[in-house]
Amino acid sequence: KYLEEDELTEEFKELLSSLPRERGWVVPHIYKYHGVWHTPAQLRGVLALHQHFQAQDSDILLVTTPKSGTTWLKSIMFALMNRSRYPKSEQHPLLKTNPHVLVPFLEIKLYANKELPDLASFVSPRLFCTHLSCTTLPNSARDSACKIVYLCRNPRDTFVSLFHFSNKLRTPNLPPNSIEEVFDMFCEGASVYGPFWDHVLGYWKESLRKPQKVFFLKYEEMKEQPTLHLKRLAEFLGCPFSKVEEKEGVVGDILELCSFGNMSNLVVNRGGRLESGEEHSAYFRKGEVGDWKNYMTEEMVQRLEKISEQKFKGSGLCL
Ligand code: A3P
Repeated sequence: KYLEEDELTEEFKELLSSLPRERGWVVPHIYKYHGVWHTPAQLRGVLALHQHFQAQDSDILLVTTPKSGTTWLKSIMFALMNRSRYPKSEQHPLLKTNPHVLVPFLEIKLYANKELPDLASFVSPRLFCTHLSCTTLPNSARDSACKIVYLCRNPRDTFVSLFHFSNKLRTPNLPPNSIEEVFDMFCEGASVYGPFWDHVLGYWKESLRKPQKVFFLKYEEMKEQPTLHLKRLAEFLGCPFSKVEEKEGVVGDILELCSFGNMSNLVVNRGGRLESGEEHSAYFRKGEVGDWKNYMTEEMVQRLEKISEQKFKGSGLCL
């Protein structure tokens, strides 16, 4: 979302002018706030969130790096947590409503507007999503017993997905970014919610320190063994599948409902836009592991490998 000059308060403009600034991939500039790069619209949401959001012990936060499969995990978690309300139903909300509407982003949607959100309609356990880094999560999310499900993806596919998505979001009068140009920015950390490596490492460490609070998941693992990881996720969230459910194929039903093939072909996801302007279809491109091979040179791959090696050294994390 692009914020016009007259949408910004003097105080916010002052803050922006005090922050490190880089060229944005979609909007003109991104700003570094507490070590994380944000567009002005995101940053405004982050500030409002910090000021007003109070996490509850029963809340569940899905936290992801942009383009790691957020849309997919939003639908899986919605289906998982609401499975008794919508058993094998043709009326399932996911068939008619985009996952970003059912599981809203905190800073990009709920706290993105001048009016504060009314969270009274969210039934417990409330399910929210955010891209916030570990270091900029609201204190109440860190200090309460709320659970965090973290999703990331290998930097190669994350980058390629972000490259395509940001070009889609650029207004038609702007030329597309070249892959070389944004690749440099990605490597230097200047991508939304970046540096990518710091984001992932922060939650990786938290998941080791507090395994009861932070569940760490990779897109590639979920693709390879979806049944195993969906069952682990259900256990982590305190709503394990019963023997009867397993026998009735509930796990497979959720995975099928939320599969790329099914979700990307639904009428609701083929057309329409989010309130913030993005087309629903922009969130469904290929949904594969390894598409980076079609876009990245050997040199680019080596450069990413080198950064990952340096940043993740000694952490046990491998992406
Ligand atoms: P690609 O661009 O590689 O295709 P996010 O939801 O975090 O914005 O991430 C978008 C990425 O997840 C896109 O990756 C998109 O195609 C993929 N995706 C969306 N829905 C999916 C699904 N149901 N299963 C697997 N991948 C999915």
